Amino acid sequence: MNVSRYWGRLSLALTLVTVLSAFAQAQPAKQEFQPEVGQAGKDVVWVPTPQALVDKMLEMAKVTPKDYVIDLGSGDGRTVITAAKRGSKALGIEYNPDMVELSKRAAAKEGVSDKATFMKADLFESDFSQAQVITMFLLPSINLKLRPKILDLKPGTRIVSNSFDMEDWKPDQTENVEGCSNWCTAHLWIVPAKVDGSWKLPQGELTIKQTFQMISGTLKNGAASSQITGKLNGDQISFTAGAAQYTGRVSGNSMEVSGGGNKLNATRGK
Ligand SMILES: C[S@@+](CC[C@H](N)C(=O)[O-])C[C@H]1O[C@@H](n2cnc3c(N)ncnc32)[C@H](O)[C@@H]1O
Repeated sequence: MNVSRYWGRLSLALTLVTVLSAFAQAQPAKQEFQPEVGQAGKDVVWVPTPQALVDKMLEMAKVTPKDYVIDLGSGDGRTVITAAKRGSKALGIEYNPDMVELSKRAAAKEGVSDKATFMKADLFESDFSQAQVITMFLLPSINLKLRPKILDLKPGTRIVSNSFDMEDWKPDQTENVEGCSNWCTAHLWIVPAKVDGSWKLPQGELTIKQTFQMISGTLKNGAASSQITGKLNGDQISFTAGAAQYTGRVSGNSMEVSGGGNKLNATRGK
């Protein structure tokens, strides 16, 4: 190649590099996704829970670093990130992939990416059985649809919902936050152990009718028989039978309760 052809090619190449780099600089920077309150979602639109209510919900659920928290429909990730800042492992399940990426960026900015994770998924098709705490801000109809799955979670699992209830499954606690204009109420439910049925005692029988966390029935112990009324708090059972107050713990088909000077071991089933 002669020298003049060499310089010609070099100058053409340099011109091309200059033009391409000018073109690249002229391109507008890729816009980061900006969420809009009220934007469509698969089953419910996105409206963020006010931060004061997020804090209240996690406080009501008594979230500790030992808990695994799952937010169903996690939006911009605020509940998951707040739980992670309290030291918990937390997962957000969100259908909108842009919101998932936004949440991951927010978690990184807050320095909690190791604890706060997000997955793009449909909450109706997701397994949330490993959670100790479920948070949600969905709709009454969705809460109801999820209710059977929630009632099958491990007794003691705490469920907190922004504003919407679960119809005849009354909350164990309801709180409002002050100085908040919209979506300011949180409800807490504690998944009750399943105790409905007939329990054998060494000298009698305990028959329980269960409606969510509320119980009624009959205690027959020796010659004595009394009506009972009481409540479950996860696997903790308490009831009154006549003048006596019983408290104890349920574990599957075994129950141990103490009261009225008695300690009763009960078993259910065959
Ligand atoms: C009312 S917002 C609540 C957001 C967040 N949990 C909070 O409290 O700030 C409901 C969220 O659920 C998401 N969503 C709707 N249907 C869903 C589904 N089937 N599976 C997962 N996420 C869903 C929406 O995209 C939206 O981000």
